[in-house]
Amino acid sequence: MTGASRGIGRAVACSLARRGARVAIHYRVNAGAARETLAALSGTGHALFAADLAESAAAARLWNAVIAEFGRIDVLVNNAAIYDMHPPLSTDYRAWQAAWERTIATNLLAPANLSLLAAEAMVADTESRGADWGRGRIINISSRGAFRGEPDAPAYGASKAALNSMSQSLAKALAPRGIYVFSLAPGWVSTDMATAHLTGDGGAEVLAQHPLGRVATPEEIAAAATFCALDAPAVMTGGIIDLNGASYLRS
Ligand SMILES: NC(=O)c1ccc[n+]([C@@H]2O[C@H](COP(=O)([O-])OP(=O)(O)OC[C@H]3O[C@@H](n4cnc5c(N)ncnc54)[C@H](OP(=O)(O)O)[C@@H]3O)[C@@H](O)[C@H]2O)c1
Repeated sequence: MTGASRGIGRAVACSLARRGARVAIHYRVNAGAARETLAALSGTGHALFAADLAESAAAARLWNAVIAEFGRIDVLVNNAAIYDMHPPLSTDYRAWQAAWERTIATNLLAPANLSLLAAEAMVADTESRGADWGRGRIINISSRGAFRGEPDAPAYGASKAALNSMSQSLAKALAPRGIYVFSLAPGWVSTDMATAHLTGDGGAEVLAQHPLGRVATPEEIAAAATFCALDAPAVMTGGIIDLNGASYLRS
């Protein structure tokens, strides 16, 4: 479970642990918050892992550390991501380039690398334990921004659109091996990532887009992620699930 120190990641970790999962809690630097997640989880056997997924070698290091501790992973949740503002026309070229590189590395390349390592291991586990044992699932936390556009953070929107496309490609490639892949696309969720947008000058405008009169809670996203991880029928693989309270309806 990447990015489990705060926000949606913490809520998903708690929800999976309530259903009996042993959770590998990944974070970047926020060790105190990660320990709070650990303390909030039901059950035992959970563990903490730090890695800056913007670094190209970090995904493999993280994977190896988790496998050394857990032996096997049944569900990978690619949740960690950054939302760095870099509006065109008011961002200089150097800052623009840096934002794209950091965002794509964290939001797309790290999930891609972890997904390959997870898929290889899940296939090997299934083959060594019998065809009907396998329960490999990969859940990618995407965003409504993939469809609606992100005018202040174009690299973020592009990273999430690519993540959706990757999920669909992997769903096709891995379904014959019994591994199912889901993408969840939340609109605004009440976490640190969204605070400045929800409380700042634009906050009222954001709320006005939401027929529910509020944005999503991390627990609502966690309920959907837990369903995909543990309950969703195989036929849902490849799905991109909108979680935006009807604030943006795509055809
Ligand atoms: N909040 C929203 O409105 C919203 C809307 C749509 C989609 N989403 C998506 O939902 C997911 C979770 O968002 P959130 O709002 O819960 O985020 P958040 O509260 O900002 O938490 C981000 C998490 O990702 C980790 N992280 C950030 N950069 C990292 C890096 N370079 N390497 C490793 N870990 C890193 C953080 O670790 P540290 O605590 O150590 O920094 C933290 O655990 C993201 O994929 C986001 O794009 C969020």
